[in-house]
Amino acid sequence: MCGIIGYTGKKQAEPILLEGLKRLEYRGYDSAGIAILKNGTIEVRKKQGKLHVLADELRRLPIEGITGIGHVRWATHGIPNEINAHPHLDEKKKIAVVHNGIIENYQALKKKLITEGHRFISDTDTEVIPHLIEKFYKGNLTDAVRRAASLLKGSYAICCFHKNEPHKIVGARCDSPLIIGLGKNENFFASDIPAILNYTQNVVFIDNAEIAEITPKSYRIINYKGKKILRKPTRIKWNISQAEKEGFKHFMLKEIFEQGKVTKNILEERIKKNSIHFEELALKNTDLKRIKNIAIVACGTAFHAGLTGQYVLESLTGIPVWVDTSSEFRYRNPIVGKETLAIFISQSGETADTLAALREAKRKGAKTLAICNVLASSIARESDGVVYTHAGPEIAVASTKAYTAQLTILYLLSMHIARKRSKLSEKDFNKLLLQFKKLPHILEKTLSKYRKEKNNIANYAKLFREYYLKMHHKSTFLYLARNINYPNALEGALKLKEISYISAEGYPAGEMKHGPIALIDENPWVVCIATKSAVYDKMISNIQEIKARGGIVIAVATEGDKSIRNQNINYIIEIPEISEFFSPIVVVVPLQLLAYYVAREFNYDIDQPRNLAKSVTVE
Ligand code: G6P
Repeated sequence: MCGIIGYTGKKQAEPILLEGLKRLEYRGYDSAGIAILKNGTIEVRKKQGKLHVLADELRRLPIEGITGIGHVRWATHGIPNEINAHPHLDEKKKIAVVHNGIIENYQALKKKLITEGHRFISDTDTEVIPHLIEKFYKGNLTDAVRRAASLLKGSYAICCFHKNEPHKIVGARCDSPLIIGLGKNENFFASDIPAILNYTQNVVFIDNAEIAEITPKSYRIINYKGKKILRKPTRIKWNISQAEKEGFKHFMLKEIFEQGKVTKNILEERIKKNSIHFEELALKNTDLKRIKNIAIVACGTAFHAGLTGQYVLESLTGIPVWVDTSSEFRYRNPIVGKETLAIFISQSGETADTLAALREAKRKGAKTLAICNVLASSIARESDGVVYTHAGPEIAVASTKAYTAQLTILYLLSMHIARKRSKLSEKDFNKLLLQFKKLPHILEKTLSKYRKEKNNIANYAKLFREYYLKMHHKSTFLYLARNINYPNALEGALKLKEISYISAEGYPAGEMKHGPIALIDENPWVVCIATKSAVYDKMISNIQEIKARGGIVIAVATEGDKSIRNQNINYIIEIPEISEFFSPIVVVVPLQLLAYYVAREFNYDIDQPRNLAKSVTVE
């Protein structure tokens, strides 16, 4: 939540900060602001609303200057208005601060600062930071930040500058991401890599409880005791075009269409000479043999990937697997120990609950493994081992390509563990590998149907909108599936509610008679995953039960399935033939597209849905 950026160099800071914030807007978009040092004075512009409102203001009232910081906000403390927007300043307007995270002890700090004569103007937790820095400032900003930061409790990534030290920006981090970007005669701070990719691919990752300072030509990192830390930059492989829309109307659509390429890259990277390679896994064969149970822990879409992982891991490895949402796992006193492999799935690698759950599992002695997309993110760094999905930057808040990438990794991981534990014969392993290698092509084939603007899913979305209006906004969605595709029912429903704000529920079809059937009348549209599988006939029976009660059915079916056409189904979406085992990676695609087109029919802001944030770094 919230995105921060800092720039110091020779160029004008304003356009660089704005561009960086644009790439961080997925982190928060209820207000935005920048502060730039102009001729020895800190000038601030902040605006409630999305970044374009601030951009308009800056066109009217630009700020010149070569050192500055910026912020996009997802409100935690204080409503999203102009006063609460960042940057926040100290009373004498000498220090400007942007902050991502929550200062949990801000009330106590504020009370003390007030008794010492400080005056506050906002409702935010953040405002204590510039006041604390002011209190400790004796001519060296880095030192003042170090002293202030050691009093803060909670999570934070901070960037700040002082008007008396015009070419210096200081950052600090504790449980919220912060990186340094190294340019030529210019340096950056940012919450995430895409914000600076246009200028540099050389990045220094800042760790927890570290203070960093940048000038146009140098960077320096110290710990809270003031001890110098040497850290070399990492060269990032992502390029800027991956963080652009490349002609697509929305990032979400672009990312949906990238899924064929993403899975192809993963398989090419991991499968070498008919064996699976996980160089970064850091789990020895003896560790893999010792595992007695597996816990998969994640939030949101990553949690749904984990649910599919349970089916795949259990069926291939024979190891009992359970899946938890991170927020439950961390407080439930879960039974994990030395014989548990705890897998944490997170696109961003920064989700606060998942990070806390990881620490809990480590505390209890489990072997921990992260599946992350963002390089060197907190979850990736704190786990014993990590497998990167290498899906490229995912910008749309609603996750799509990260999900299929997580699924792909989970399949590979399951096959790898099964092989190491001799649960899968070489013959069966090779058979699976052969099927798996065909998957990117099947995904591409599925996607190619929807490259045209006019396609049947877009048309069903249009019909839904007309129906919804006719039914006075009463229509909802129900997603039903069985077995290995059940998690896709949850994911389909999640995608729809995230971006179109229409109530949607995912259910195992076998549970229909235990509740959801009561909802069936002419209102809900029921999406039934009825592709060719061992549970096909059972899904057809469910469809019949829905039709018998006047329900409207959209079926996801296998191409060439003639019998499904005799079921009086309202709308059919076809996917190419694929083995049931690997089908979840393909079946989810039409569900993602359905959610996308429905939201587009309603003209919603698809990439930045209301109230959501891509990276949930607070609890
Ligand atoms: C938020 C995002 C979701 C994401 C979830 C978990 O809710 O909006 O798209 O699935 O967080 O994020 P993670 O980065 O841990 O996968």
